[in-house]
Amino acid sequence: MVSSPSFYSFLAIISLLFHLFLISSITAKNDGFTVKLFRKASPFSRSHLMRSSKNNPNDAHAPVRGYIGHYLMELNIGTPPVKVSGIADTGSDLTWTSCEPCVGCYKQIEPLFNPLKSSTYSNVSCNTPLCDKLDTKECSPEKRCGYTYAYASSSVTKGVLAQETITLTSNTNEPISLNGILFGCGHNNTGGFNDHEMGIIGLGRGPVSFLSQLGPLLGGLKFSQCLVPFLTDIKISSKLSFGKGSEVLGQGVVTTPMVPSPTQDKTPYLVTLEGITVEDTYLPFKTSGTVAKGNMMIDSGTPPTILPNDLYDRLVNEVKKRVSMEPITNDPSLGNQLCYHTNTSPNGPNLTFHFEGANIVLTPIQIFIPQIEKVGVICLGITNNSAEGGIYGNFAQSNYLIGFDLEREVVSFKPTDCTKG
Ligand SMILES: *[C@@H]1O[C@H](CO)[C@@H](O)[C@H](O)[C@H]1NC(C)=O
Ligand SMILES: *[C@@H]1O[C@H](CO)[C@@H](O)[C@H](O)[C@H]1NC(C)=O
Ligand SMILES: *[C@@H]1O[C@H](CO)[C@@H](O)[C@H](O)[C@H]1NC(C)=O
Ligand SMILES: *[C@@H]1O[C@H](CO)[C@@H](O)[C@H](O)[C@H]1NC(C)=O
Repeated sequence: MVSSPSFYSFLAIISLLFHLFLISSITAKNDGFTVKLFRKASPFSRSHLMRSSKNNPNDAHAPVRGYIGHYLMELNIGTPPVKVSGIADTGSDLTWTSCEPCVGCYKQIEPLFNPLKSSTYSNVSCNTPLCDKLDTKECSPEKRCGYTYAYASSSVTKGVLAQETITLTSNTNEPISLNGILFGCGHNNTGGFNDHEMGIIGLGRGPVSFLSQLGPLLGGLKFSQCLVPFLTDIKISSKLSFGKGSEVLGQGVVTTPMVPSPTQDKTPYLVTLEGITVEDTYLPFKTSGTVAKGNMMIDSGTPPTILPNDLYDRLVNEVKKRVSMEPITNDPSLGNQLCYHTNTSPNGPNLTFHFEGANIVLTPIQIFIPQIEKVGVICLGITNNSAEGGIYGNFAQSNYLIGFDLEREVVSFKPTDCTKG
């Protein structure tokens, strides 16, 4: 009976119908979907989530510091649902959360997801196309699809790839459930996460990312974000919109092409930065030679912007000339950062980032960031690295509605007060 072909085709029809029903019920109800992002204060926050271990020219390394610089997204996982808050991260693909049993994991306040208590949980097995979506898979003796993801902040998550029902709640309190979403059930997670951070929501371009899975269900492979500036009251949330309706339109929108990654790494959103203007002084990205396409990665999981040493030094020189305070020079713990003793945002210059076809003006609230471990010290939210390229971090992304359109392969920016509405 079970092996009869008609039984199998019956099953196939059921599952196809179920799929069609699921998809149409979502698109009929929601063209797209908007969720809130929120922030938590904690002295243990760390920066810089970009995946390491890639031969990427943009594989920048920054000192790990105690920024409270992450934007968290809440989702419910499993049946019955368990609430999980993960870091919204355009710099990585895999969405993962800490799962029971968690061996040697960093401390977390909320209870961890326990796959044994969910009726919709399933492990992905190793020799399947789903497992091949990971760029490095590990087959366990039981043929489970294992993964190890390391981030540039030397954080590591290890676990198994699994599928689950994910329920999201919109900013207008409307829920949707999505079945069979791939995620990493992390059983050994270490590194610089704080105790409110239960994992990562991967919004990169690769096939396993949350965006790549949600986009087609929500009317398009695109999303947009509006992040509140760092100094905003912690009670005010930011926004992330998926799919149809997330397009960034209207007056003041500027657009720059997404550049395909030169390496096998499908994850990053690369764009081309031609130079930076400090008030009226133009600093080309490079003083000689041509600028490489895709020299900057837009990463919402990294707070500071990171520039190559030479451009950084020229930038700091110009900024210093335009701030009427003495920079701090006698504090080795600040490293090479440009910092000032002040309790207010300095009356500093505007910076214009000249992306190919898109000029982005940043004002002091997007540029000067108070240090959480040093009261009364404010530093330039830009640091240096020895790579040829850099990272456009989330301090600089704030107060812009930024659209990532993977169909048109463009990134759009619209100046927006993200604290409103
Ligand atoms: C999934 O895989 C994990 C890790 O190998 C294992 O402990 C667990 O029992 C598996 N769960 C199911 C439902 O098969
Ligand atoms: C957990 O991962 C860390 C580093 O990634 C490793 O050193 C440690 O041995 C692992 N622990 C277990 C129990 O596998
Ligand atoms: C900086 O930019 C803001 C917003 O575009 C503008 O209102 C302000 O006048 C600029 N400040 C200077 C000193 O140019
Ligand atoms: C940043 O610049 C300082 C001073 O020039 C230098 O010592 C340091 O090595 C640079 N950092 C990186 C990661 O290149």
